[in-house]
Amino acid sequence: MTAKPAPTDVDIHELFSGRWSLRAFSNQPVDHAHLHAVLEAARWAPSSNNLQPWRFVVFDRTRDETAFQRVFDTLMPTNQKWNAHVPVLIYVAVALTPKGGPGKTASYDTGAAAMALVLQAHALGLATHQMGGFAHDAFRRAFSFSIPEEMQLIAMIAIGHFGDASALDEALRERETAPRTRKPLAEMAFEGAWNKAFD
Ligand SMILES: Cc1cc2nc3c(=O)[nH]c(=O)nc-3n(C[C@H](O)[C@H](O)[C@H](O)COP(=O)(O)O)c2cc1C
Repeated sequence: MTAKPAPTDVDIHELFSGRWSLRAFSNQPVDHAHLHAVLEAARWAPSSNNLQPWRFVVFDRTRDETAFQRVFDTLMPTNQKWNAHVPVLIYVAVALTPKGGPGKTASYDTGAAAMALVLQAHALGLATHQMGGFAHDAFRRAFSFSIPEEMQLIAMIAIGHFGDASALDEALRERETAPRTRKPLAEMAFEGAWNKAFD
């Protein structure tokens, strides 16, 4: 299963409707040039005062199996299950006190950069799945606390190629094949006043 397009109410670009969070990754390595491209897309994300508070750390199983395994071990067991074959994990951090003052919008900026990264991956035919489910303290310990204090660990991004959904266990397969859903637009987009649905 390589496509699970969003059933959108109006037409939007395939880049947005076509991206989805895969669970059935294959173990095919990701081309290093493609990793370069997804990071370059993130680099060009907008940010408040152009502070660029995001940081990405790539763990590529094919280049450093030991470091990859240390990161993999910090994932919640439920996430470990479907990441068993994933070739690359990218860890996302945000500088909460970048030079120039506290970055009130730092998390917002970093989310934008992460979205640029996953959309570029989709454009390259790669699949991604972002995760908050990992042990943040264990992650710091795994790297001997070398991650600066002011860096807040936010998320992990699994990135790889589409694999075989039938190899997933039943619960995961169900989630993998379930239709994509969202709240109605009227619940999140207002016009002129709070809770007055955009029409
Ligand atoms: C910051 C963030 C954290 C997430 N954490 C997890 C996670 O720990 N485990 C998981 O299976 N999915 C996780 N997801 C994936 C979401 O569940 C998924 O994006 C959402 O259900 C919408 O599905 P879609 O991305 O296929 O449209 C996370 C997504 C984001 C953006």
